[in-house]
Amino acid sequence: MFGNSPFSFQEPLGETDYKDEELCWSVPQYPYQPIQHPFIMPSPEVSHALTLGQSLTFPFSGKTAKNKLMKSAMSERLSTFSSYDPMERGQPTEELVRLYETWAIGDIGIMVTGNIQIKKDHLEASGNAIIDWDLPRSYLEDFKEVARAAKSHGSLVLGQLSHPGRQVSITIQPYPESSSAIEHPPTSGVLFARPTPLTKDGIKDIVKRFAYAASFLQKAGFDGVQIHAAHGYLIHQFLSRRSNNRTDEYGGTLQNRMRLLLEIIAEIKWAVNDPTFMLSVKINSEDSVPDGIDLEESIITAKVLEAAAVDLIEISGGTYEQGQQLAQHRTLFSAAREAYFIDFADQLRPHLRQSRIAVTGGFRTTRAMAEAINLGSTDVIGIARPLTAEPLLVKAILRGTKMEAKSDKLPPIQLLRLAASGSQIVEIGNGEDITDFDSTFNVSRFIARMLKEIPASMSELLSIHNCST
Ligand SMILES: Cc1cc2nc3c(=O)[nH]c(=O)nc-3n(C[C@H](O)[C@H](O)[C@H](O)COP(=O)(O)O)c2cc1C
Repeated sequence: MFGNSPFSFQEPLGETDYKDEELCWSVPQYPYQPIQHPFIMPSPEVSHALTLGQSLTFPFSGKTAKNKLMKSAMSERLSTFSSYDPMERGQPTEELVRLYETWAIGDIGIMVTGNIQIKKDHLEASGNAIIDWDLPRSYLEDFKEVARAAKSHGSLVLGQLSHPGRQVSITIQPYPESSSAIEHPPTSGVLFARPTPLTKDGIKDIVKRFAYAASFLQKAGFDGVQIHAAHGYLIHQFLSRRSNNRTDEYGGTLQNRMRLLLEIIAEIKWAVNDPTFMLSVKINSEDSVPDGIDLEESIITAKVLEAAAVDLIEISGGTYEQGQQLAQHRTLFSAAREAYFIDFADQLRPHLRQSRIAVTGGFRTTRAMAEAINLGSTDVIGIARPLTAEPLLVKAILRGTKMEAKSDKLPPIQLLRLAASGSQIVEIGNGEDITDFDSTFNVSRFIARMLKEIPASMSELLSIHNCST
């Protein structure tokens, strides 16, 4: 791509020690006047593109990403779902394949799928992909299609594996399971049921299911998996004292609270039995809530993950419970460097020698992305929402034709912004035009639609934010 760029000029020949007669005749003799090259400063577009376009090899699997930009996980909700028959759920559809075909054209270095659930009756939402040993084996062919589509232009593709634990609406799962019987508080009009603490056999079952799902994805042709240990889902519920008050070997000390995650990693390694199968874990930087995971615990967790040969540690943050509060906090402390968790990455960096870091959340300009790489804060830039508005954004960035993600006129309401991206995902999957949320008309129309679809949540959020349609 940059073969004809101003940077491919030949270095002026200097003194040589060529002894070969044939070569010597062409070597300029001193004293001679070297050719004067004008000092060329790359434009910011080109310089950022060069930084972000560098390939990256992972230390444990040896896999190489073609550039440093990653599509972070976004649940697609483009798989089958039946509310009454769990056997009719979680099968990837052709819309899901089309979505990944589109993102693949966009030259993204690494793609993490939306969370794939490991139990057909424990879903964080309806319509996501599921890998469960009770579901038909024939789903493998559909997952193969997703892998083929996602890898068709050389991206590395990781399937994100997750279990919602207690963080699931009571309408989807009235009998959730978790580390402990601590209920998720009602949030944004959504009610949650009191969870049943997992028994030790229940925990073993979960560990085996994660490993089964990983080996299933390996057979389907995925490059690896990402374990979702962030955002308040089951593994995070074990990690955090706020949701884990167990008194056995899965509760109490951080070492105990990490046990489930480490057992999952060990079991996956055993099941896939392939050192080139890539492992990634998504963790929260810190929870910023009483009894939540703090900075020191997150750093220790990341160090232990490195010792467990995890190639890529993705740093994110927040839980459903925190939603809005976190959004406001983020805009205050990260304005200068865009990315919400970059300060945490700076603190984590000196503690890791091999595992690569990805930071996700807030990146919108190539200036901030390239700066984060150049300063060594992170190895990979995770992007989510900008890729639903512009699925080919990475390609444009690498060509130097875009320096900033498309803006929008959506109000700063997390749930609404999430839903807006979700609806764009469905549009891409259907091959439809993508709604432009930089239009006030489209935003008003979308809010009106949401008020019909999720009236309780929307009314509560709009009143908190004093928004009117
Ligand atoms: C529609 C949507 C679905 C998401 N689903 C997931 C998910 O399945 N797993 C996950 O780890 N994060 C999920 N996220 C969070 C993103 O991966 C990312 O951390 C977050 O959007 C912040 O990055 P951004 O500012 O670039 O959008 C989702 C985000 C959106 C907008």
